[in-house]
Formats: sequence, C-alpha cells, structure tokens
Amino acid sequence: MSDATFHPADTPALRLGQRAPNFRARSTRGPIELSDFHGMWVILFSHPADFTPVCTSEFVALAKAQSEFTSRGCHLLALSVDSLYSHLAWIRMIHDRFGVRIEFPILEDPTLEIAKAFGMIGADSADAASVRATFFLDPNGVLRASTCYPAEVGRSIDEMVRILAALQKTDMAPLLTPAGWREGDDLLRAPVHAIEDVLAAETASDWFYSTVPDTGGAA
Ligand code: BEZ
Repeated sequence: MSDATFHPADTPALRLGQRAPNFRARSTRGPIELSDFHGMWVILFSHPADFTPVCTSEFVALAKAQSEFTSRGCHLLALSVDSLYSHLAWIRMIHDRFGVRIEFPILEDPTLEIAKAFGMIGADSADAASVRATFFLDPNGVLRASTCYPAEVGRSIDEMVRILAALQKTDMAPLLTPAGWREGDDLLRAPVHAIEDVLAAETASDWFYSTVPDTGGAA
C-alpha cells in the first residue's frame, strides 16, 4: 500500500495481551529480527524523527539509564521512519555533543511496515512520523503495557523503568502494584471473589484492600 492511500486510523494498534508481530529490520547494531529476543523482555519504542530536540533528550536520558533496563534483563529497541544513515549520523552527533553512547539498536522503518503493524502512526498524523509509542513485550513476545505520547511531550524514563519493574514483580506472585508503586513499596493482594473469603476477612475492607510487604526478589 502506498503512503498516498494509507489511512492511519484504519490500522488498529496492537492490544494488551496480543502477541507482537515479528519483523526484520536494519539497525545501528546490524540486522534485527524481533523473534531473536524470544525469552527476554523488550521495550520497543518509536520516535517521530531523528535530529529533533525532544527525541534527542529522550535518547540521552535512555542511554544514561541503560543499566536500569539491562539489570532487569530488558532490551531496548528504538525505531523511526528515518534511514539507517540518518540514525548513524544522529547517534554520532549525540556522542559528540552529550558524551553518551547509544548502545541500544535504532531500527529503520522506511516503508512504515513496522509502524503500521504496531499502530505507531497517529490517527490524525499529517505525515509519516511515528508517535512516541512504547511497547513493553514480555519474554513470550506478548504486549503487556503500552504508552503513547504526542511529538511535543517527552517520555519519563523513570516511568518506563517503573512499568517494567511492576510487570516483572506481578509476574512473580498473584499480587498487584498500587498507584505510584516503586520497588520495595508494599504490594496489594488480588481481590477475592467468593463470599466465604469476604466473610473470613479480618475487617470489612480487608477482602478487597490489603497490603503485603515486598519481600524482595527480582523485580
Ligand atoms: C522532537 O522530538 O523534538 C520533535 C519531533 C517531531 C516533531 C516535533 C518535535
């Protein structure tokens, strides 16, 4: 389908719980296939364009936080419609201007094939620039969380790490993370569904709201 006939609104975004479509792409770290990452957490994130201020600030912040993702066994994959050569020139500029190395791969998507498959193009987008979409894929390649920001608003890297840590924590036990949860904070018990459990609860609200200390473990 050519860009002239493509209507972004016709492309459904990948939904939570769906397996991400596989793809192959050239990247600043060589050819990449999403299936190469099976068994590992992946954060695939799109940015509207190279050599733009908000994107540059995000890449610098992500490079500085790289160890937060690596220590949680998570790979970062960046993507935009710009060409591989543009990506290479941009990360050289970031290196020289900000003194940081972008270690994670930046994928090119000149045909918008990946952006379309993931629903990364804004429905009201005037051009092919992808939105600031972020996809948290679990080791089975299933979409577990996603965020979508407009071009004007930079993402919070702290929030990306927090979402990843919360997903990994709640995969370890049938527990939930409350608002603003951070590693080490108390967790919440999953609500019960049987009247016996409701009546057995110590107080009138314990059956639907009770906290549990985070006893540690990989998050
Ligand atoms: C930016 O990253 O600064 C940006 C990207 C696209 C449009 C406007 C700003």
